[in-house]
Amino acid sequence: MKIKTCVTLLCAAFVAAGISATASAAKIGVSMPTQSLQRWNQDGANMKAQLEKAGYEVELLYAGDNDIPTQVNQIENMISGGDDVLVIAAIDGSALTEVLKGAKEKKIPVISYDRLIMNTDAVSYYATFDNFKVGQIQGHFLEDALKLKDAATTPKNIEFFTGPTDDNNVNFFWGGALEVLQPYLDNGKLVCKSGQTTKEQAATLNWNNEEAQKRMENLISSCGYGPEGTKLDAVLCSNDSTANGVTNALLSEGYDASNFPIVTGQDCDRPSVKNIKKGYQAMSVFKDTRTLAAQVVKMVDEIIKGQPVEVNDTKTYNNGTGVIPSFLCTPVIGTKDNYKKLLIDSGYYKESEI
Ligand code: GAL
Repeated sequence: MKIKTCVTLLCAAFVAAGISATASAAKIGVSMPTQSLQRWNQDGANMKAQLEKAGYEVELLYAGDNDIPTQVNQIENMISGGDDVLVIAAIDGSALTEVLKGAKEKKIPVISYDRLIMNTDAVSYYATFDNFKVGQIQGHFLEDALKLKDAATTPKNIEFFTGPTDDNNVNFFWGGALEVLQPYLDNGKLVCKSGQTTKEQAATLNWNNEEAQKRMENLISSCGYGPEGTKLDAVLCSNDSTANGVTNALLSEGYDASNFPIVTGQDCDRPSVKNIKKGYQAMSVFKDTRTLAAQVVKMVDEIIKGQPVEVNDTKTYNNGTGVIPSFLCTPVIGTKDNYKKLLIDSGYYKESEI
Protein backbone atom coordinates (compact mmCIF):
# COMPACT_ATOMS: atom_id res chain seq x y z
CA MET A 1 0.00 0.00 0.00
CA LYS A 2 1.43 3.35 -0.97
CA ILE A 3 0.28 6.49 0.74
CA LYS A 4 0.77 9.76 -1.02
CA THR A 5 1.45 12.13 1.81
CA CYS A 6 3.15 14.68 -0.34
CA VAL A 7 0.26 15.60 -2.57
CA THR A 8 -1.95 18.25 -1.16
CA LEU A 9 -5.39 18.14 -2.59
CA LEU A 10 -8.11 20.57 -1.97
CA CYS A 11 -11.38 18.89 -1.30
CA ALA A 12 -14.75 20.41 -1.92
CA ALA A 13 -15.96 22.27 1.09
CA PHE A 14 -18.59 20.64 3.18
CA VAL A 15 -21.10 23.40 3.48
CA ALA A 16 -23.83 22.04 5.63
CA ALA A 17 -27.03 23.84 6.26
CA GLY A 18 -27.38 25.14 9.77
CA ILE A 19 -23.68 25.73 10.40
CA SER A 20 -22.86 29.07 11.91
CA ALA A 21 -20.59 31.19 9.81
CA THR A 22 -18.45 32.52 12.63
CA ALA A 23 -16.21 30.86 15.18
CA SER A 24 -17.72 32.74 18.08
CA ALA A 25 -21.17 31.32 17.43
CA ALA A 26 -20.09 27.72 17.02
CA LYS A 27 -19.84 24.91 19.55
CA ILE A 28 -17.49 22.01 18.83
CA GLY A 29 -18.01 18.61 20.45
CA VAL A 30 -14.79 16.68 21.09
CA SER A 31 -15.21 13.03 22.10
CA MET A 32 -12.11 11.21 23.38
CA PRO A 33 -11.84 7.49 24.26
CA THR A 34 -10.11 7.38 27.63
CA GLN A 35 -8.13 9.31 30.19
CA SER A 36 -6.14 6.26 31.20
CA LEU A 37 -3.56 6.77 28.46
CA GLN A 38 -1.49 9.90 28.46
CA ARG A 39 -1.76 10.59 24.76
CA TRP A 40 -5.54 11.08 24.81
CA ASN A 41 -5.32 13.54 27.70
CA GLN A 42 -2.79 15.44 25.68
CA ASP A 43 -4.93 15.27 22.53
CA GLY A 44 -8.00 16.51 24.41
CA ALA A 45 -6.14 19.33 26.13
CA ASN A 46 -4.50 20.48 22.89
CA MET A 47 -7.77 20.39 20.96
CA LYS A 48 -9.60 22.37 23.64
CA ALA A 49 -6.88 25.00 23.96
CA GLN A 50 -6.47 25.49 20.22
CA LEU A 51 -10.20 25.54 19.47
CA GLU A 52 -10.82 28.05 22.24
CA LYS A 53 -7.96 30.18 20.97
CA ALA A 54 -9.68 30.19 17.58
CA GLY A 55 -12.83 31.47 19.26
CA TYR A 56 -14.93 28.31 19.54
CA GLU A 57 -16.93 26.99 22.43
CA VAL A 58 -15.74 23.48 23.24
CA GLU A 59 -17.50 20.49 24.76
CA LEU A 60 -14.69 18.03 25.55
CA LEU A 61 -15.77 14.65 26.94
CA TYR A 62 -13.85 11.46 27.77
CA ALA A 63 -15.70 8.15 27.60
CA GLY A 64 -14.64 6.87 31.02
CA ASP A 65 -11.98 4.25 30.50
CA ASN A 66 -12.74 3.13 26.94
CA ASP A 67 -16.43 2.61 27.72
CA ILE A 68 -18.31 2.28 24.43
CA PRO A 69 -21.88 2.92 25.75
CA THR A 70 -20.59 6.07 27.49
CA GLN A 71 -19.06 7.32 24.25
CA VAL A 72 -22.30 6.62 22.34
CA ASN A 73 -24.29 8.45 25.01
CA GLN A 74 -21.99 11.45 25.03
CA ILE A 75 -22.13 11.76 21.24
CA GLU A 76 -25.92 11.46 21.33
CA ASN A 77 -26.03 14.36 23.80
CA MET A 78 -23.64 16.43 21.70
CA ILE A 79 -25.96 15.95 18.72
CA SER A 80 -29.14 16.79 20.62
CA GLY A 81 -27.38 19.62 22.45
CA GLY A 82 -26.74 21.46 19.19
CA ASP A 83 -22.99 21.06 18.70
CA ASP A 84 -22.05 22.37 15.25
CA VAL A 85 -19.16 20.04 14.42
CA LEU A 86 -18.14 16.76 16.07
CA VAL A 87 -14.55 15.62 16.46
CA ILE A 88 -14.44 11.97 17.52
CA ALA A 89 -11.66 9.55 18.45
CA ALA A 90 -13.63 6.30 18.51
CA ILE A 91 -13.04 3.50 21.00
CA ASP A 92 -14.51 0.88 18.67
CA GLY A 93 -14.50 2.16 15.11
CA SER A 94 -17.60 0.16 14.23
CA ALA A 95 -19.78 1.02 17.21
CA LEU A 96 -20.94 4.50 16.17
CA THR A 97 -23.00 3.71 13.07
CA GLU A 98 -26.38 4.11 14.81
CA VAL A 99 -25.66 7.21 16.85
CA LEU A 100 -24.10 9.06 13.91
CA LYS A 101 -27.30 8.70 11.90
CA GLY A 102 -28.48 11.56 14.14
CA ALA A 103 -25.54 13.72 13.09
CA LYS A 104 -26.20 13.02 9.45
CA GLU A 105 -29.90 13.91 9.84
CA LYS A 106 -29.01 17.21 11.51
CA LYS A 107 -26.25 17.84 8.94
CA ILE A 108 -23.60 18.05 11.66
CA PRO A 109 -20.18 17.44 10.07
CA VAL A 110 -18.11 14.73 11.76
CA ILE A 111 -14.31 14.65 11.78
CA SER A 112 -12.82 11.28 12.60
CA TYR A 113 -9.85 11.96 14.88
CA ASP A 114 -6.77 9.71 14.77
CA ARG A 115 -8.85 6.51 14.33
CA LEU A 116 -11.21 6.02 11.41
CA ILE A 117 -14.91 5.63 12.26
CA MET A 118 -16.19 2.72 10.20
CA ASN A 119 -19.46 1.88 8.42
CA THR A 120 -21.15 5.26 8.47
CA ASP A 121 -21.56 7.88 5.79
CA ALA A 122 -21.78 10.58 8.47
CA VAL A 123 -18.00 11.05 8.52
CA SER A 124 -16.90 14.07 6.47
CA TYR A 125 -13.14 14.07 7.07
CA TYR A 126 -10.41 12.09 8.76
CA ALA A 127 -7.29 13.55 10.37
CA THR A 128 -4.56 11.26 11.61
CA PHE A 129 -0.90 10.39 11.32
CA ASP A 130 0.37 8.20 8.52
CA ASN A 131 -0.37 4.98 10.36
CA PHE A 132 1.16 2.65 7.78
CA LYS A 133 4.35 4.63 8.06
CA VAL A 134 4.32 4.20 11.86
CA GLY A 135 4.47 0.42 11.33
CA GLN A 136 7.15 0.76 8.67
CA ILE A 137 9.32 2.88 10.99
CA GLN A 138 9.08 0.18 13.67
CA GLY A 139 9.79 -2.60 11.14
CA HIS A 140 12.82 -0.82 9.67
CA PHE A 141 14.16 -0.08 13.14
CA LEU A 142 14.10 -3.81 13.97
CA GLU A 143 15.53 -4.70 10.56
CA ASP A 144 18.53 -2.42 11.23
CA ALA A 145 19.00 -3.20 14.92
CA LEU A 146 18.93 -6.96 14.29
CA LYS A 147 21.05 -6.58 11.11
CA LEU A 148 18.53 -8.68 9.21
CA LYS A 149 19.81 -7.57 5.81
CA ASP A 150 23.25 -8.94 6.64
CA ALA A 151 23.78 -12.41 5.13
CA ALA A 152 25.94 -13.46 8.10
CA THR A 153 23.23 -12.74 10.68
CA THR A 154 21.99 -15.82 12.52
CA PRO A 155 18.21 -16.29 13.17
CA LYS A 156 16.75 -13.90 15.75
CA ASN A 157 13.84 -14.60 18.09
CA ILE A 158 10.94 -12.15 18.08
CA GLU A 159 7.44 -11.86 19.55
CA PHE A 160 4.60 -9.58 18.39
CA PHE A 161 2.19 -7.27 20.23
CA THR A 162 -0.37 -4.96 18.67
CA GLY A 163 -3.65 -3.25 19.66
CA PRO A 164 -7.30 -4.31 19.50
CA THR A 165 -8.65 -5.35 16.12
CA ASP A 166 -11.61 -2.96 16.55
CA ASP A 167 -9.16 -0.04 16.17
CA ASN A 168 -8.78 0.44 12.41
CA ASN A 169 -5.29 1.88 12.97
CA VAL A 170 -4.11 -1.56 14.00
CA ASN A 171 -4.52 -2.78 10.41
CA PHE A 172 -2.11 -0.08 9.29
CA PHE A 173 0.43 -0.36 12.13
CA TRP A 174 0.49 -4.12 11.64
CA GLY A 175 0.52 -3.90 7.85
CA GLY A 176 3.41 -1.43 7.79
CA ALA A 177 5.56 -3.40 10.24
CA LEU A 178 4.88 -6.77 8.64
CA GLU A 179 5.58 -5.42 5.17
CA VAL A 180 9.17 -5.07 6.41
CA LEU A 181 9.36 -8.11 8.72
CA GLN A 182 7.32 -10.82 6.96
CA PRO A 183 10.06 -11.64 4.41
CA TYR A 184 12.41 -12.38 7.32
CA LEU A 185 9.84 -14.64 8.98
CA ASP A 186 9.49 -16.39 5.62
CA ASN A 187 13.23 -16.87 5.09
CA GLY A 188 13.91 -17.92 8.69
CA LYS A 189 15.99 -14.90 9.73
CA LEU A 190 13.23 -14.10 12.23
CA VAL A 191 11.75 -16.84 14.39
CA CYS A 192 8.62 -16.44 16.48
CA LYS A 193 8.83 -19.32 18.95
CA SER A 194 5.25 -18.93 20.20
CA GLY A 195 3.98 -19.16 16.62
CA GLN A 196 1.69 -16.19 17.40
CA THR A 197 2.29 -14.24 14.22
CA THR A 198 -1.20 -13.13 13.20
CA LYS A 199 -2.67 -9.75 14.05
CA GLU A 200 -5.45 -11.49 15.98
CA GLN A 201 -2.98 -13.51 18.06
CA ALA A 202 -0.89 -10.42 18.76
CA ALA A 203 -3.92 -8.23 19.61
CA THR A 204 -4.24 -6.48 23.00
CA LEU A 205 -7.70 -5.55 24.25
CA ASN A 206 -8.05 -1.76 24.60
CA TRP A 207 -4.28 -1.42 24.21
CA ASN A 208 -4.23 -2.37 27.88
CA ASN A 209 -0.83 -2.39 29.50
CA GLU A 210 -1.65 -5.18 32.02
CA GLU A 211 -3.07 -7.41 29.28
CA ALA A 212 0.20 -7.05 27.38
CA GLN A 213 2.19 -7.77 30.52
CA LYS A 214 0.17 -10.96 31.20
CA ARG A 215 0.63 -12.20 27.65
CA MET A 216 4.38 -11.50 27.76
CA GLU A 217 4.62 -13.38 31.08
CA ASN A 218 2.87 -16.34 29.45
CA LEU A 219 5.23 -16.24 26.48
CA ILE A 220 8.23 -16.11 28.82
CA SER A 221 7.09 -19.28 30.54
CA SER A 222 5.85 -21.15 27.46
CA CYS A 223 8.93 -20.35 25.32
CA GLY A 224 11.48 -20.33 28.14
CA TYR A 225 12.71 -16.81 27.41
CA GLY A 226 15.01 -15.20 29.95
CA PRO A 227 18.48 -13.75 30.43
CA GLU A 228 19.69 -17.26 31.28
CA GLY A 229 17.16 -19.05 29.08
CA THR A 230 16.11 -18.91 25.43
CA LYS A 231 17.37 -15.68 23.91
CA LEU A 232 14.64 -13.20 23.07
CA ASP A 233 16.06 -10.68 20.62
CA ALA A 234 13.12 -8.41 19.97
CA VAL A 235 9.49 -7.62 20.68
CA LEU A 236 7.50 -5.63 18.14
CA CYS A 237 5.01 -3.53 20.12
CA SER A 238 2.70 -1.30 18.11
CA ASN A 239 2.48 1.34 20.82
CA ASP A 240 3.86 2.47 24.16
CA SER A 241 1.19 1.05 26.46
CA THR A 242 1.78 -2.46 25.12
CA ALA A 243 5.55 -1.82 25.21
CA ASN A 244 5.26 -0.84 28.87
CA GLY A 245 3.45 -4.06 29.75
CA VAL A 246 6.04 -6.09 27.86
CA THR A 247 8.89 -4.16 29.50
CA ASN A 248 7.47 -4.78 32.98
CA ALA A 249 7.30 -8.52 32.30
CA LEU A 250 10.88 -8.57 30.97
CA LEU A 251 12.20 -6.59 33.95
CA SER A 252 10.51 -9.03 36.37
CA GLU A 253 12.22 -11.86 34.52
CA GLY A 254 15.59 -10.29 35.31
CA TYR A 255 16.50 -8.54 32.07
CA ASP A 256 18.44 -5.30 32.45
CA ALA A 257 19.88 -2.64 30.15
CA SER A 258 22.82 -4.89 29.27
CA ASN A 259 20.70 -7.64 27.70
CA PHE A 260 17.29 -6.10 27.09
CA PRO A 261 15.46 -7.33 23.96
CA ILE A 262 14.78 -4.63 21.38
CA VAL A 263 11.31 -3.32 22.17
CA THR A 264 9.50 -0.89 19.86
CA GLY A 265 6.69 1.53 20.69
CA GLN A 266 4.64 4.52 19.56
CA ASP A 267 3.45 7.79 21.09
CA CYS A 268 6.52 8.86 23.13
CA ASP A 269 4.40 8.62 26.27
CA ARG A 270 6.28 9.68 29.39
CA PRO A 271 6.79 6.16 30.90
CA SER A 272 8.22 5.00 27.59
CA VAL A 273 10.58 7.93 27.23
CA LYS A 274 11.83 7.13 30.74
CA ASN A 275 12.36 3.51 29.67
CA ILE A 276 14.17 4.65 26.53
CA LYS A 277 16.53 6.75 28.65
CA LYS A 278 17.19 3.72 30.87
CA GLY A 279 18.03 1.51 27.90
CA TYR A 280 14.93 -0.73 28.14
CA GLN A 281 12.56 0.27 25.32
CA ALA A 282 14.66 0.96 22.23
CA MET A 283 12.46 3.37 20.31
CA SER A 284 9.09 5.00 20.03
CA VAL A 285 7.31 6.86 17.26
CA PHE A 286 6.56 10.49 17.99
CA LYS A 287 3.19 11.75 16.84
CA ASP A 288 3.08 15.35 17.98
CA THR A 289 -0.48 15.78 19.23
CA ARG A 290 -0.07 19.55 18.86
CA THR A 291 0.32 19.09 15.10
CA LEU A 292 -2.75 16.86 14.81
CA ALA A 293 -4.81 19.22 16.96
CA ALA A 294 -3.72 22.20 14.85
CA GLN A 295 -4.73 20.39 11.66
CA VAL A 296 -8.14 19.47 13.06
CA VAL A 297 -8.75 23.00 14.28
CA LYS A 298 -7.93 24.17 10.76
CA MET A 299 -10.43 21.66 9.36
CA VAL A 300 -13.11 22.82 11.79
CA ASP A 301 -12.46 26.41 10.86
CA GLU A 302 -12.65 25.70 7.13
CA ILE A 303 -15.90 23.75 7.59
CA ILE A 304 -17.50 26.47 9.71
CA LYS A 305 -16.43 29.21 7.29
CA GLY A 306 -17.58 27.22 4.26
CA GLN A 307 -14.08 27.17 2.81
CA PRO A 308 -12.39 24.27 0.99
CA VAL A 309 -11.03 21.77 3.51
CA GLU A 310 -7.38 20.87 3.06
CA VAL A 311 -6.64 17.13 2.81
CA ASN A 312 -3.60 15.25 1.47
CA ASP A 313 -4.93 11.73 0.96
CA THR A 314 -8.04 10.71 -0.94
CA LYS A 315 -7.21 7.06 -1.58
CA THR A 316 -6.21 5.19 1.54
CA TYR A 317 -8.96 5.30 4.13
CA ASN A 318 -12.19 3.60 3.09
CA ASN A 319 -14.56 3.28 6.03
CA GLY A 320 -16.91 0.82 4.35
CA THR A 321 -19.12 3.52 2.83
CA GLY A 322 -16.41 5.04 0.63
CA VAL A 323 -13.03 6.74 0.89
CA ILE A 324 -12.92 9.47 3.53
CA PRO A 325 -10.86 12.54 2.53
CA SER A 326 -7.97 12.54 4.98
CA PHE A 327 -5.13 14.64 6.25
CA LEU A 328 -2.15 12.54 7.30
CA CYS A 329 0.46 14.11 9.57
CA THR A 330 3.99 12.72 9.55
CA PRO A 331 5.25 10.46 12.36
CA VAL A 332 8.94 10.49 13.30
CA ILE A 333 11.17 8.09 15.19
CA GLY A 334 12.10 8.83 18.81
CA THR A 335 15.21 7.26 20.39
CA LYS A 336 17.76 7.85 23.13
CA ASP A 337 19.79 9.86 20.62
CA ASN A 338 17.18 12.37 19.51
CA TYR A 339 14.62 12.60 22.35
CA LYS A 340 16.12 15.85 23.69
CA LYS A 341 15.74 17.69 20.43
CA LEU A 342 12.41 16.07 19.61
CA LEU A 343 10.66 16.31 22.95
CA ILE A 344 12.46 18.80 25.19
CA ASP A 345 13.69 21.47 22.79
CA SER A 346 10.32 21.44 21.01
CA GLY A 347 8.60 22.17 24.33
CA TYR A 348 6.57 18.92 24.34
CA TYR A 349 7.95 17.81 27.72
CA LYS A 350 10.10 19.32 30.44
CA GLU A 351 13.21 17.27 31.20
CA SER A 352 11.87 16.84 34.77
CA GLU A 353 8.75 15.06 33.44
CA ILE A 354 10.73 12.32 31.78
C1 GAL B 1 -4.14 4.16 18.48
C2 GAL B 1 -3.36 5.42 18.36
C3 GAL B 1 -2.04 5.26 19.02
C4 GAL B 1 -2.16 4.75 20.43
C5 GAL B 1 -3.24 3.72 20.62
C6 GAL B 1 -3.64 3.55 22.06
O1 GAL B 1 -5.32 4.22 17.79
O2 GAL B 1 -3.18 5.77 17.01
O3 GAL B 1 -1.37 6.48 18.98
O4 GAL B 1 -2.31 5.77 21.31
O5 GAL B 1 -4.38 3.97 19.85
O6 GAL B 1 -4.48 4.53 22.52
